[in-house]
Amino acid sequence: MTVARSFKTLDDMSDIAGKRVLVREDVNVPMADGVVTDDTRLRAAVQTVAELSDRGAKVIVLAHFGRPKGERNPEMSLALVTKPFEAVIGRPVRFIDDEYAAETIAKMTDGEIGILENTRFDPGEEKNAPETVERFAALGDLYVNDAFSAAHRAHASTEGLAHRLPAFAGRQMEAELDALDKALGNPEHPVAAVVGGAKVSTKLDVLKHLVAKVDHLIIGGGMANTFLAARGVNVGKSLCEHDLTGTAEEILDAADKANCIVHLPYDVVVAKEFAANPPSLRTCNVHEVAEDEMILDVGPAATEALGDVLKNCRTLVWNGPLGAFETPPFDTATMSLAHTVAALTKEGSLVSVAGGGDTVAALNQAGVADDMTFISTAGGAFLEWMEGKELPGVAALQH
Ligand code: 3PG
Repeated sequence: MTVARSFKTLDDMSDIAGKRVLVREDVNVPMADGVVTDDTRLRAAVQTVAELSDRGAKVIVLAHFGRPKGERNPEMSLALVTKPFEAVIGRPVRFIDDEYAAETIAKMTDGEIGILENTRFDPGEEKNAPETVERFAALGDLYVNDAFSAAHRAHASTEGLAHRLPAFAGRQMEAELDALDKALGNPEHPVAAVVGGAKVSTKLDVLKHLVAKVDHLIIGGGMANTFLAARGVNVGKSLCEHDLTGTAEEILDAADKANCIVHLPYDVVVAKEFAANPPSLRTCNVHEVAEDEMILDVGPAATEALGDVLKNCRTLVWNGPLGAFETPPFDTATMSLAHTVAALTKEGSLVSVAGGGDTVAALNQAGVADDMTFISTAGGAFLEWMEGKELPGVAALQH
């Protein structure tokens, strides 16, 4: 999917001083006891909001928070995110109660920033209902979509509004689309993809799409076990979707036909129980896994070989860890590959794009998140993009 520059950006907006600009952001951040535990998405929203405010627009942020299913739920009020966002952006941010939205916005001064109450409190938001689109449209003159991570939803605030008001991509959206285009749209070859995670079933479409796009497909995590089983390897009591070995075989065949080399681990780290540093821990050849053992990480020899593969690649897209990285020492392969990717990116030989909650957590754990070429803030949207699907929020900007 070639998407770069087929949409308007903030550079195409002129004379916006005094205009009401509706900015769709994704501020769906994790919270515990009223405290934001990861403010990545808030930081990602700053550039667009600050730029519009500096240019004198009245900035009205539209966003969802959680899944309130069309009902008011105080625990999912965006009032909870207003102060944290104010702290991150370093300027005053007003919370806009949607019952008094028109009056509040009418009093806003040029450059002022406000966050409207959770768009999903309106039952028409997720249905993309025309009356909800109209309700939002009446609050603004221009529309900016900066929420790539919500762009897989065809909702009133992510899709409908783009047809109703002059629509532009925000800076974060622009950066995501440019990076993703570099990674899979128009990448420099050879291209490698690392796909990991527990289950093949959640990433079937991703794998099917990638085999036709990339030169090397590195499969890790629990899902590698299903592929190993498909190749006749006894995986003991490892997590494995035995009912999907046929599908795994089809993917391997499709890869073969497309000249995509699939890399599965040939040595593995196993244990009899899934716990931190278990006494039964050992490394073995993939053909030597005992009936009562489970595979929990890629082994050191295979990890080193994967590093060598990446040394000859120009582009990498990464989604999903190689092992059960939250439990030591099953983070070893993921950490090691993360360091290799960071080094190759820093020396300029690799464009590295990573996305998905677990992947970003793993890269943060390795301390190399800042060394990647680009880290997507998206979860579901990143996966749908890797599946080659059209994202409605992006498509609407391109019209
Ligand atoms: C996300 O957290 O991935 C986005 O904010 C989208 O949220 P949703 O899955 O509830 O639509």
